[in-house]
Amino acid sequence: MKIYDLIGIGFGPSNIALAIALEEKKQIDHHVESFFIEKQPGFAWHANMMLDNAHMQVSFLKDLVTIRNPSSHFTFINYLYENNRLQDFINLKTFFPSRHEFNDYLAWAAAHFNHCCAYGEEVIEVLPEKSGDEIALLRVRSRDGAQVIHERLTRSLVISIGGQPRIPDCFSSLRGDARVFHSNSYLKEIKQHGHAGKIAVVGGGQSASEIFMDLHHRSNTTQVDLIMRARSIKPSDDSPFVNEIFNTDFTDYVFNSPEQERSKILDEFWHTNYAAPDLVLIEQIFNVLYQQKVSGIERHRFLRRHEVRKAIAQSNGIQFTLHDLNTDSERTVTYDAVVLATGYHRDHYKSLLAPLIPYFEDLTVDRQYRICSTPHFKPAVFLQGACESSHGLSDTLLSVTAVRTSEIAQALINTLSQSTGVQAKRKMSSVLV
Ligand SMILES: Cc1cc2nc3c(=O)[nH]c(=O)nc-3n(C[C@H](O)[C@H](O)[C@H](O)COP(=O)(O)OP(=O)(O)OC[C@H]3O[C@@H](n4cnc5c(N)ncnc54)[C@H](O)[C@@H]3O)c2cc1C
Ligand SMILES: NC(=O)c1ccc[n+]([C@@H]2O[C@H](COP(=O)([O-])OP(=O)(O)OC[C@H]3O[C@@H](n4cnc5c(N)ncnc54)[C@H](OP(=O)(O)O)[C@@H]3O)[C@@H](O)[C@H]2O)c1
Repeated sequence: MKIYDLIGIGFGPSNIALAIALEEKKQIDHHVESFFIEKQPGFAWHANMMLDNAHMQVSFLKDLVTIRNPSSHFTFINYLYENNRLQDFINLKTFFPSRHEFNDYLAWAAAHFNHCCAYGEEVIEVLPEKSGDEIALLRVRSRDGAQVIHERLTRSLVISIGGQPRIPDCFSSLRGDARVFHSNSYLKEIKQHGHAGKIAVVGGGQSASEIFMDLHHRSNTTQVDLIMRARSIKPSDDSPFVNEIFNTDFTDYVFNSPEQERSKILDEFWHTNYAAPDLVLIEQIFNVLYQQKVSGIERHRFLRRHEVRKAIAQSNGIQFTLHDLNTDSERTVTYDAVVLATGYHRDHYKSLLAPLIPYFEDLTVDRQYRICSTPHFKPAVFLQGACESSHGLSDTLLSVTAVRTSEIAQALINTLSQSTGVQAKRKMSSVLV
């Protein structure tokens, strides 16, 4: 069986940027034979949240490559140029393209790597390949849409699988009920419920806010309850000094801080990213609710300081027991559909790696995002997007992707050349030949 230098799980922005970084290292002097496995049938960036009017939350200059190599072929600007839209984009006068356009940019970049990416295969486990006392290789097992299992061998692994829907405990018994779904599958599911009378949106972040506005415009008979525990919807702070926490050098600062200090930094800046919609969106929601006051017709409700204590499936809908945290009182409300815009967790890589856990010390990562392992475990295993607690709030975002992938690519090249001396092949220049 062929042995790859690297297998990447997932082909979202993080691994596309890594493929680019490796491609550009190849042009300089190193060749790493890499392969990526993506469970979606083709490239798509959060397809079920591709709402009209949604735009990027970071500058287009924080694309897959510009911060590391502004002269790369893979910049957003070159994408515009190749698509004959550069001047039109300039006239838009924005740093924040639509999500539709950024998705198209990512798809354009991803298409350069079709020869080394298998779409439509979900990685289900990663097994150690023993050779005497040593583990030198990993066996990556994936399943395609026809339930066929594929196996590939690799010397190293990078896991970039994004987030997994966070489902609050009181909804866990409703898994499989088509009337309850996470924002992650919003557009797919809402088609069946678009004209449902009463919809609950749980959460107060960017996803909840975008979905509230989408439902408002989708049908003028839909009633929406926006339900959140906090006292208010607070905007994300993207003012310039605060934004410096998303600079690449801040990663060093966070990583080198003592653990207690790191969690203080995360707490202090948590709302730059989480439960923090854009101000413009908050103003739109406020305006919708204000216009209801003018008309005297209450269509939607903003149920702040409300917690869902119980959710029960009934034939006529999903019945919530809602606890009002201000008055300490309870009431029941029945909904035709429920959207859980309750965010994501990022520790599901652990289940993929379960067979390797005995070889890892405690799943901590080093500065180059490599999981620390026991001495006789040779493969390098890197994590992207699951290192927020060690590397800071930029880890789940696009902000540092260009630089992070270059750091991982370099660490990988160093490891491969140390372990075998031949895997990182020096490409002889024509002058030397
Ligand atoms: C709706 C939405 C909008 C966002 N907008 C922004 C923004 O404007 N700016 C910003 O900085 N961040 C934004 N984010 C944060 C987001 O995490 C990053 O933009 C980016 O998607 C991270 O890239 P990634 O490749 O690490 O993860 P993802 O984009 O989540 O990609 C992971 C990929 O792995 C695949 N995968 C998962 N499990 C497996 C498996 N077992 N086998 C094979 N493939 C698998 C998935 O199908 C997916 O394609 C947004 C997040 C959401 C939910
Ligand atoms: N346009 C865009 O670019 C765009 C669009 C969507 C998302 N995003 C990004 O995607 C990431 C995730 O955003 P998100 O809005 O999906 O999630 P989020 O920011 O994590 O917000 C989750 C919301 O769900 C609530 N919540 C969590 N657990 C709950 C529970 N058990 N019961 C009740 N409420 C609960 C949280 O409230 P508490 O605070 O009370 O816990 C919070 O209001 C962010 O980085 C965001 O910027 C970007």
